[in-house]
Amino acid sequence: MSDTETVSLMELMKDPAVRLDPYPAYADLQKMGRLLPTMFGGFLVTRHADAFTVLRDARFSSNARHQPTYEQFAEMARQVGLGDLQDLFERVMLFADPPDHTRLRRLVSKAFTPRAVEDMRPRIAAIVDRLLDAVEGDGGAELVETLAFPLPVTVISEMLGVPAGDHSQLRAWTAEAVKALDPSDDMMVLFPAAEAIRAIRGYFHELVVERRKAPGDDLLSALIAAEDEGDHLSHDELLDTAVLLFGAGHETTVNLISGGVLNLFRHPAELERLRDDPSLIGSAVEELLRFGPPVQFTDRRATADIELAGQLIERGTELVPLIAGANRDPDVFPDPDRLDISRADNRHLSFGGGIHLCLGAPLARIEGQEAIGRLVGRFPRLALEREDVEWKPTTTIRGPARLPLVW
Ligand code: HEM
Repeated sequence: MSDTETVSLMELMKDPAVRLDPYPAYADLQKMGRLLPTMFGGFLVTRHADAFTVLRDARFSSNARHQPTYEQFAEMARQVGLGDLQDLFERVMLFADPPDHTRLRRLVSKAFTPRAVEDMRPRIAAIVDRLLDAVEGDGGAELVETLAFPLPVTVISEMLGVPAGDHSQLRAWTAEAVKALDPSDDMMVLFPAAEAIRAIRGYFHELVVERRKAPGDDLLSALIAAEDEGDHLSHDELLDTAVLLFGAGHETTVNLISGGVLNLFRHPAELERLRDDPSLIGSAVEELLRFGPPVQFTDRRATADIELAGQLIERGTELVPLIAGANRDPDVFPDPDRLDISRADNRHLSFGGGIHLCLGAPLARIEGQEAIGRLVGRFPRLALEREDVEWKPTTTIRGPARLPLVW
């Protein structure tokens, strides 16, 4: 690779073969180098050790404000009417630096501890069973619509106290909103995303007004109480947090379930092993997360001049840890392209790492275990209706758009 050449995941994904299976391309990138210059002036971080360092070292921030061109960009965004998207990206927990991050995360973390979500397992199992009961007699179903999507949406909605009748409207907005997370050189794509985020915030504003009048036994009511108790949480932060939890609960776990089931079908011996020994479901879900991470990459900015992979990274530089590539790094995972549902020492980066380590990971794990475990346990003759799979158009978030199954 010459000094002037850059890599772009966005460009790579325009190749239909790469969209179908990006992993050979990620392996090639890994061979090209540890840090590869991107077209946005940053570096793609290809190896597990470096990606993990970037995620864990607090000097690499997830807040775009540390980028030198940020103020200019933010001003332009405000002028063209994207101010609220900009504000959300500056404030929300995922993009906040300490001490704000610490405060925001502490307020909701209690609801997501492994113990708290383990208590939700019977309820999650019951939702899975109800969703499968509804289609059992049909001889088959499309998995995304019938299970992978409704499960996490129902769970996070119940946690937040969102009425079931509002799901489909919120779903349409959320699908639009996550497009703002994708890398793009076209600012126009941000307008519908901003519009959708405005609508979701508006929705939660109304719900907060209702819950303030009549508090329930839900996370939103608990957050309102935290807001009312003092300056822990501003009204904007409360709405941002609701939007983040709702969105994160929508667009990630769905791909763990649908992508995970697809990968089991593509490795029938592993599917059989799981059927023969359902106690493997815990390690199977970890391996499915490693093998096909729903979040393929993330980004950080250096807040100081920092040495990484033998190179000086100047303050303000953007780094893009390639989670999906790091998860197949042969230095960490023996035989990385093999799906092994009992893989030991599975240090995948699918939930990130460091202070922003996925807050919902314990919940996502249980949802994945109950959905995949119950589905394969219930239908011994489960099969894909067809081999070719259509993938969602997003690059950051990866998962099948549809997965028709027969049983
Ligand atoms: C399989 C499903 C999921 C995957 C693969 C996933 C992945 C991730 C990743 C990679 C990050 C870190 C991003 C970064 O550092 O830049 C993250 C953060 C986060 N996730 Fe998840 N997630 C999943 C499910 C969930 C669920 C179900 C929730 C909540 C309902 C959730 C809530 C969050 C939150 C709030 C953060 C930000 C944490 C912070 O900034 O401290 N996630 N997730």
